[in-house]
Amino acid sequence: MRRELVRVLAAEDCGGYRLLRVERGTLDPGAPGQFFMLEAPGRLWPRPMSLCFAPAGELAFLIDPIGPGTRALAALERGDRLHILGPLGNGYDLAVERTLLVGGGIGIAPLPYLSEHLGCPPALLGFRSSRHAEAADLVPNAEIVLDPVLVTDALRELPDLDGRSVLACGPEPMLWAVAELCPRAQLAWEAPMACGYGACYGCAVSIRGRLRRLCVDGPVLKVDEVDAPLAA
Ligand code: FES
Repeated sequence: MRRELVRVLAAEDCGGYRLLRVERGTLDPGAPGQFFMLEAPGRLWPRPMSLCFAPAGELAFLIDPIGPGTRALAALERGDRLHILGPLGNGYDLAVERTLLVGGGIGIAPLPYLSEHLGCPPALLGFRSSRHAEAADLVPNAEIVLDPVLVTDALRELPDLDGRSVLACGPEPMLWAVAELCPRAQLAWEAPMACGYGACYGCAVSIRGRLRRLCVDGPVLKVDEVDAPLAA
């Protein structure tokens, strides 16, 4: 883990999201599912962002500009500078076979990098609008569903679901629905994070009756590692 001041190489619209590409510097891109803390200039708190992909010399992040912090990151332009800390947390276990990637909304963010590491397995992605679904172009071999159809509705219809290794990321209700359907799934959870490395307990959740920090024990957890519901 390192903290480094890096330059924005490009910022472009990607469906309803913003794709921020920054220089990698000496940062290690880490494993799929790990995250970085991005500090927008002038903002007090950094925001945790999964690495979306990592071409040579770059790190790329997919941002949903839904609050002041993420809007500040989405407003960055080529040449701007920001501090980045990472890689942080635990990523996906890549020792899997017959893999299916499942993503909901901005939860597709870690899937391009994950797909690249796993040889582009099939993916099932759900979005709230056709505009947001344009971001599915980042994920190879993706089948798309749009609201009001849920990604878990499509998952339930798969005839060979029992034999699949499901690796998922998305909103909490989606993850619980995936957990019910796929007891061996790996799930990447979201939580408010202030530090990203275990110091603040801002991301503490209940795991098997104990408060654990999602930034160091997660964000990727196997279904049998979580209590229902995952709550502070
Ligand atoms: Fe600070 Fe997890 S974000 S302990």
